[in-house]
Amino acid sequence: PVRSVLPADILARKGGTPIVCLTAYTTPVARIVDAHCDIALVGDSVGMVLHGMPSTLGVTMEMMILHGRAVVRGCQKSMPVIDMPFGSYEEGPAQAYRNAARLMAESGAPAVKLEGGAHMAETIAFLTKRGVPVMAHIGLTPQSVNTLGGYKVVGRDGEADSVMADAEAVQAAGAFSVVLEKVPEGLASRITQRLSIPTIGIGAGLRCDGQILVVDDMLGLFTEFRPKFVKRYGELGRAADEAIAAYAAEVRSRAFPAPEHAFADVLPTKGPKS
Ligand code: KIV
Ligand code: NA
Repeated sequence: PVRSVLPADILARKGGTPIVCLTAYTTPVARIVDAHCDIALVGDSVGMVLHGMPSTLGVTMEMMILHGRAVVRGCQKSMPVIDMPFGSYEEGPAQAYRNAARLMAESGAPAVKLEGGAHMAETIAFLTKRGVPVMAHIGLTPQSVNTLGGYKVVGRDGEADSVMADAEAVQAAGAFSVVLEKVPEGLASRITQRLSIPTIGIGAGLRCDGQILVVDDMLGLFTEFRPKFVKRYGELGRAADEAIAAYAAEVRSRAFPAPEHAFADVLPTKGPKS
């Protein structure tokens, strides 16, 4: 299908109205995201948010394809982007190409995202030269939690130069945009000014070319932890808790189902006006 937003359109949004992005993992949520956002990211955060995994490291290609298909079905005007899961691209360009092509072909998403800066530049160039639009992801890269030693801010003090070098490397390799995760706001602002591709911030301050959040975080549905950069725009977790508590109480007290939720044994005789 011809979409109204494609990677080239995102690239053209550099420096303009902020690019609005959220994650989505299911068709119904993708439909709501699609109505309001430019990009619906099928993030590998799906492992933690929907499947209760302790990190994103256990997320598989099959999970990404299944959720990717669901999101693609819900997107009419926005652009779905699908995360490459841990272990599916780090070995080298050929492995990355094989799995990126499979993700795109089997989910229908027109672009992929992968984590890593300068060390992934060769892979990003290999993909982009062969028809795979790549969104890069630098700063805090959660798939590297075990080597980074936690989910800390990346790019303070002596680290700033290497994050800037990562940004320049992924741009030179052909990425159409780059996610900056948990990067100090001054550095994110300098990267945004320096690059000609859009920066999409998460915990990276106001100066990025766009913003992204995990949709379940901003809806108040995923409450396991609450990073400083998440603003809660809803309390859907609380609303669901109240609704389920009310249902449980009504089942126990036999208040539910009421007569209107049940079926009579005999159909009422059809009168002139039944
Ligand atoms: O997996 C994810 O949700 C992400 C975004 C938060 C950038 O990578
Ligand atoms: Na991700």
